[in-house]
Amino acid sequence: MKKILTLALCAVMMLSVLAGCGGKTDAPANDTPAQNEPAAPAENTPAAPEAGGTIGVCIYQFTDAFMTTYRNTLQEILEGKGYTVTVVDGANDQAKQNEQINTFITQGVDALIINPVMVSAADQIIATVKDANIPTVLINREPTAEQMSAYDKLVYVGALAAQSGTMQGELILDTPNKGDINGDGKVSYIMVQGDPENIDAQLRTEYSVKALTDAGVEVEQLNLTRGDWMRERGQEIVANDLVQFGNQVEVVFCNNDDMAIGALQSIQAAGRKVNEDIYLVGVDALDAALNEVSNGNMTGTVLNDAVGQATAAVEEMEKLLGGATYSSGSQSVYVDYVKVTPDNVADFMG
Ligand code: GAL
Repeated sequence: MKKILTLALCAVMMLSVLAGCGGKTDAPANDTPAQNEPAAPAENTPAAPEAGGTIGVCIYQFTDAFMTTYRNTLQEILEGKGYTVTVVDGANDQAKQNEQINTFITQGVDALIINPVMVSAADQIIATVKDANIPTVLINREPTAEQMSAYDKLVYVGALAAQSGTMQGELILDTPNKGDINGDGKVSYIMVQGDPENIDAQLRTEYSVKALTDAGVEVEQLNLTRGDWMRERGQEIVANDLVQFGNQVEVVFCNNDDMAIGALQSIQAAGRKVNEDIYLVGVDALDAALNEVSNGNMTGTVLNDAVGQATAAVEEMEKLLGGATYSSGSQSVYVDYVKVTPDNVADFMG
């Protein structure tokens, strides 16, 4: 955890420098995906005020493994700075989250940090916080630049999903046979997708495969199934796919680690051996996945930097509390992903 925190702080420092130069984070070149321009420095940035206000945090769903690490880190950082924090569970229900936002507003919180249940509800969320004039940081599920431009005391903190997809593809390209275990000239894969409404799911799905095709590797998609980020779904989907496609499956791409851990259970139950007769990659660098990478039961994962993102979210919140505003088109702050392989996994383990 300490190492991750150090890494995260470096990432955030680097990020501030880049933002100061008006530069971009190290996103994949060309074909820029449909994410927003990184934030320029907030306009009129006065010194951050004394900490000690009341903060409402809305999380889309407490049972989500990655968002559990994220929310615990966020709470720790905020409380460490003397804020009074209430974190609520949207239970994957946008109507419920709307009520929670209204309750926080009625209670007079100083700022909100919101992980929307549905990006399609962003217009409504933004109109509500704007009406109440509450400084707001959106996290993890990114609305469009146009939606955010409706309110200048609003900023998004997240990561460039395409970057994580590309890194997943690179993990496969780095294997001795570039994913083509049976030597038939193509990589046959199954894709276990998160919630397809979410840009993370869309871009990881696209860019993991694009990394292979960009490197001249032929691919064959055997199946793509929605698993909504959940471990049990990963397990079910991969169990079914292994029955249906058997030894044809060379690579299992999971949009996140929790689904990859579920996938691993089915891979082992089917008598297959990761890194020998099948490859498996995820995203997030959950503790469970780090263990499996280190044991050779996952080919690799990609750090989705919860500490870096929570740190940046609090920094942006404090700028807003200090009176900063953001101009349209530059309301997104991104923290870099990091590739995790057996070679560097120890750096990420507590
Ligand atoms: C992603 C993360 C997933 C899930 C999702 C929720 O960034 O990789 O595990 O937490 O966010 O929106």
